[in-house]
Parts: sequence; structure tokens; C-alpha cells
Amino acid sequence: MNIHTYEKIWLVAALLLIVGFIATITYGSVGLGIAMIDDSEETIEPSELSEDERFSEPRVEQVGENEYEAYVVARTFIFQPDPIEIPAGSEVTFYVTSPDVIHGFSVVGTNVNTMVIPGEVSTMTAEFDEAGEYGIVCNEYCGSGHHNMEGQIVVVP
Ligand code: CUA
Repeated sequence: MNIHTYEKIWLVAALLLIVGFIATITYGSVGLGIAMIDDSEETIEPSELSEDERFSEPRVEQVGENEYEAYVVARTFIFQPDPIEIPAGSEVTFYVTSPDVIHGFSVVGTNVNTMVIPGEVSTMTAEFDEAGEYGIVCNEYCGSGHHNMEGQIVVVP
């Protein structure tokens, strides 16, 4: 192996290293960009829920013929509003947040099931075709009252 070949190998190695660094930086910043976009849309200051127009009064709003939006606050150890009342045949988008600790929002017998993290708004949509009552449970351990943290969805005929 002469010096020329030896230098070439190092040059190639150095270039690979640089390409690797650039790829890491690019990939990393793309990831960061996505996270920041999410953050800007769905974060909320937990201590200011009472001043937030969506969550100061937890409620259900009709936004279309059969479409509703439910602004739900999960807090130790209740869900608000309770019950969440909607007519049968409606599509409901839930926006759920917490002012204190991590909770769960799980509608028994449906696939609505999410973690509720202070500072974030969990969003999911579900259809309720038939009248009935659905229990809401918290499935994240949140303290002494966790096991009694329940709510209800009442689908009226
Ligand atoms: Cu709230 Cu467990």
C-alpha cells in the first residue's frame, strides 16, 4: 500500500462521515419541524384552561346537521361535561385535555381510547348510531381517585 492509496481511503472515509453528519442533521431537523408543527396546533397551557375558549366551559357543540364537537376536560377525578349528551346518528369529534396529570379517555365498547396529557389536546372522531349509554373510564393511573374516575355518554333517540 503506497501513501497515495492510503490517503484515498482516508478521504473516502472522511467524505462518508461528512455525508453521514449531513444526513443526521437533515433528518433530525425534519423530525423536529414536524413535532413543532404539531405543537403549535395542539398545545395548550394547562394552567390556563379556564381562560381557553374551548375548555373554559366543557361542552358539546353542534357544528353540522349530524356533527358535533365535544370539548372535554379530564381532571382528578372527573370528566367534564358529564354526561356528554348527543343525539343518535351523530358524528362526534372529541377534543380532550387535562389541567393536572395524565389521564385516559376511553369510551367503553368503542374504539375511542386515548391518553390525555396536560398541555396537549387529544382529538378523535366517532359515530354514535344507536341510542344508549356508554361509560367513559380513565385508563391511566392518575392518583387515589383513579378507579372511580368515570363519565358517561348519553346517546338520546
Ligand atoms: Cu384519571 Cu386515572
